[in-house]
Amino acid sequence: MDIKPVKAFDRRIICKPDKSVTHRAVMFNAAFADRAEIRNPLISADCLSTIDCMRRLGAEIEVGKSIRIVKGGITEKSAMLDAGNSGTTMRLLGGLLAPVEGRFTIKGDESLSLRPMNRVIAPLSLMGAKISGSNGCAPLSITGAKLRGIDYDMPVNSAQVKSAVLLAGLMASGKTTVREKVVSRDHTERMLASMGAKISVDGKNVTVEGGNKLHSADVDVCGDISSAAYPFAFAAGLDGGKTTVENVGINPTRTGILEVLRAMGAEVKIENVRGAAEQTADITVRGKVYKPVTVGGELIPRLIDELPTIAVLTALCEGESVIKDAAELKVKETDRIETTVNALRALGVEVEGTADGMRIYGRGYIPGGGEVDSCGDHRIAMSMSVAMALSERGGTLIGGEACAVSWPDFFTGLFGDKYV
Ligand code: S3P
Repeated sequence: MDIKPVKAFDRRIICKPDKSVTHRAVMFNAAFADRAEIRNPLISADCLSTIDCMRRLGAEIEVGKSIRIVKGGITEKSAMLDAGNSGTTMRLLGGLLAPVEGRFTIKGDESLSLRPMNRVIAPLSLMGAKISGSNGCAPLSITGAKLRGIDYDMPVNSAQVKSAVLLAGLMASGKTTVREKVVSRDHTERMLASMGAKISVDGKNVTVEGGNKLHSADVDVCGDISSAAYPFAFAAGLDGGKTTVENVGINPTRTGILEVLRAMGAEVKIENVRGAAEQTADITVRGKVYKPVTVGGELIPRLIDELPTIAVLTALCEGESVIKDAAELKVKETDRIETTVNALRALGVEVEGTADGMRIYGRGYIPGGGEVDSCGDHRIAMSMSVAMALSERGGTLIGGEACAVSWPDFFTGLFGDKYV
């Protein structure tokens, strides 16, 4: 697909629904509740993987404009599950199924089968789970076992690992505490609390009590700030660029991108804050960014999925920008240090990968003209499409269909009729 340079951007967009929240709303209600309605869900390949897994475990789920859990509960005693490309589906299901009587296997696609699963196998095994992988990767084999609560210091920053341990803790004996070094997205904690779980948060530590009886919670899914990042970047990267994205989730564990946009010199206005468990707002971003930045430390988990997009914007700021403390990028859908660096280089940007991020030597513009392969990674496909549109000469994108993982109609939704 050829992407032409776009010289003006002024659009009002309704934010795509949140992927992390949709996964959890479907999974938790389908596992623990009888009936529930999930309004404004994200219907994308990843979320369909979660729906498919929960159906195979016995839940009845109707998918329309809303997702209806018609009959919840894990009733199957044996199931072969396919998480597709979705790390959230596989890791959260690992924790959810560890205490359930039965035998379960969870496989994934080629990319997911290369991603580390020891990070969930290790804490769940400490709880007494019978769970194994293949050389620390998928497929996961689980035989339901009685679990005991643990006090766990997280060696990696991962909401997926935290969630897996908390879900297992719901049905373990005693209390389970997860201690994080830096707080990662807390959608699991918020949703379990709204379903009546005995869960408490004390700074960077979360404790859940075993033997919980949960009730259903209808969910209005907020917009996904990770998807909003693309229109934000479009507006922030152009002189006179402007976008208002409506209904963006502003959970503070997710809003790091807004701080970086401001630090780069973009104008960010947050209006009409509303909602309860997960608040949303209408966010207006105006360009153009021009100040190089260093992004690292406690900010990283709050913008981990936006880093390829942030890297694109740094190229438009004259001077050296640094992304550090982000080694987790290596174990995403692709090694995003490598795929981001390769893609930016193909577009003429001077950039070098480091052990935990990258250095971008911004020239204030992106030459463009090259060919970028998404390598099957939705975030690379979307962030690099924006990079090409913001570049002098545009470019060619290979593997644009990867967008289906989180934003199936990305090109028409974001570019309108201007993308080819
Ligand atoms: C997610 C957590 C993050 C994030 C992913 C979604 C979640 O992954 O990158 O896109 O829904 O919990 P990690 O838990 O591996 O950091």
